[in-house]
Amino acid sequence: MVNKLTENELWILSFYRTSEISGALFFGRLARSMKPGLIQRDMTKHFSDESQHAWYWTSCVQRFGTLPLKLSHAYQDKYLEAAGMPANLMEVLAITQTFEKRVIAQYALHSRVPDLKPEILETFNKIMEDEKWHIEWVGEALKRMEPEYGKSYIQDTLKRYWKADKKIYGEVLKEHEDRVKDLLRYRQRTA
Ligand SMILES: [Fe+2]
Ligand SMILES: [Fe+2]
Repeated sequence: MVNKLTENELWILSFYRTSEISGALFFGRLARSMKPGLIQRDMTKHFSDESQHAWYWTSCVQRFGTLPLKLSHAYQDKYLEAAGMPANLMEVLAITQTFEKRVIAQYALHSRVPDLKPEILETFNKIMEDEKWHIEWVGEALKRMEPEYGKSYIQDTLKRYWKADKKIYGEVLKEHEDRVKDLLRYRQRTA
């Protein structure tokens, strides 16, 4: 018999899929507009990874004998609304860094659910490797930009995006957090 997803799990995995698609579209558009260089290369790989992740979640859900939900959350749009459109490449990378850290935090929270279904754990493990590299390359690129933009301007920009991130998290991502916490509580009750 196929192991079933609960309504909560199906929503969460569908949410991950939608976010990965939005990420892929965001980075794909950026990659297309880049001039030749290391950032062009890394941004293209980044775009390719996020597209793969969207597929991993799609196929993960399918392994439970169902299909992902169509969700209307446009997380990235909210991000740009709250933080303002990035004005230059440094700001693009700063917003990317903030966003990627939030994704890792969401995945880390969920991966702490005891008795996580092996198909979900397997997908997290595959994705987390890439997500770590995303934080790394963006961090290195920002470091290389210090002589051009100044270290304190970069730090201030990161702080500004962190603030925006907290605001968005409270408004848009609360449902994800509530649902994962529900999952953690449910597991504790039934353990
Ligand atoms: Fe991803
Ligand atoms: Fe990522």
